[in-house]
Amino acid sequence: MTTTAPITAVRPMDEEADLFKINAVDHLEFWVGNAKQSVFFWKALGFKPVAYSGLETGNRRYASWVVQQGQIRLVLSTPYSAHDEMAAHQMLHGDGVKTIAMEVEDVQAAWRETTARGAKGVQPPTEARDDHGAIRTAIIQGYGQTHFQFVDRADYAGPFKPTYKALPEDKTAVPTGLAAIDHIVGNVELGKMNFWVNWFHQAMGFRQIVHYDDKVIHTEYSALMSKVMGNGNGRIKFPINEPAAGKKKSQIEEYLDYYVGPGVQHLAMITGDIVKTVRALRERGIEFLRVPQAYYDALPDRIGPIKEKYDDIAELGILADRDDEGYLLQIFSRPIQDRPTVFLEVIQRRGARGFGVGNFRALFESIEIEQEKRGNL
Ligand code: FE2
Repeated sequence: MTTTAPITAVRPMDEEADLFKINAVDHLEFWVGNAKQSVFFWKALGFKPVAYSGLETGNRRYASWVVQQGQIRLVLSTPYSAHDEMAAHQMLHGDGVKTIAMEVEDVQAAWRETTARGAKGVQPPTEARDDHGAIRTAIIQGYGQTHFQFVDRADYAGPFKPTYKALPEDKTAVPTGLAAIDHIVGNVELGKMNFWVNWFHQAMGFRQIVHYDDKVIHTEYSALMSKVMGNGNGRIKFPINEPAAGKKKSQIEEYLDYYVGPGVQHLAMITGDIVKTVRALRERGIEFLRVPQAYYDALPDRIGPIKEKYDDIAELGILADRDDEGYLLQIFSRPIQDRPTVFLEVIQRRGARGFGVGNFRALFESIEIEQEKRGNL
């Protein structure tokens, strides 16, 4: 069934070679049908609402909540008017990630380098000011209708950006140990993988970190191809998936059908203690995919000694994988909205820098069981 080829390191990471410096993912903005209620979902994941923009703050166009946990900052926004482009976006795509924002040192340079190399500009460098200082942003077009934004908030001391006010501490939001974004995965259409690999390489100066082809990632029925693009300091990792031909519908095709085009498939968040984090998330009702017990029967032989207890790993449905540098533990949620589109990953790295290729087969088989239930296989 599945042949596991070695992971190919295409080019070494090299910060010096970056076209422009990206320090971190600044935030992800979701455009959703009801931001106020989405806040409650993210609170269950341990995120605290920290800032708000809306009618009360002078924002007459949309309501927007910033939630944060560790270094992960998410923005949940909903338009007030049915005629707003945000409403059209939400009607077409359902809830999803509109913007991936990256914190850069020089927004002008990021805009200049990317647009000169073929990226389509959406918003040229713009400065917004309030009593807290100045924030500079620019936006280029990513896959589908997804925006990539560059942010420089070095001269801004406010809670998020102008029109947003800080919220009082919400003691009902109890952290679960999610600390930082590890990677953000995009799904693109059949035949578009290499376009986007080249786009990230040429326009953003990223390098290909790993490549899994459809011989690596397929089950009896469905297949996909995946390539991982990243920047030189390794803080930005954007895997890209493309459906591959199989007997039945690829999970990537299901996403593309329901999102109506390319977009963010999953957001992977780092924890320093996955057993504790997943236990807390499960207690709060967050739903994760489960793989069959046979996976756990074979796991100790496949992975060898680990710091965690195998009993905990099996009880919580956590997956494990090992490479030359160490191992990693990961788990995937069910879709986080009604459409089978965006989902979440929780990951703990113990040395390994891969993405869990050894788990793809077991994982995809369990995704297919869910697809079958939805009548989409
Ligand atoms: Fe992932």
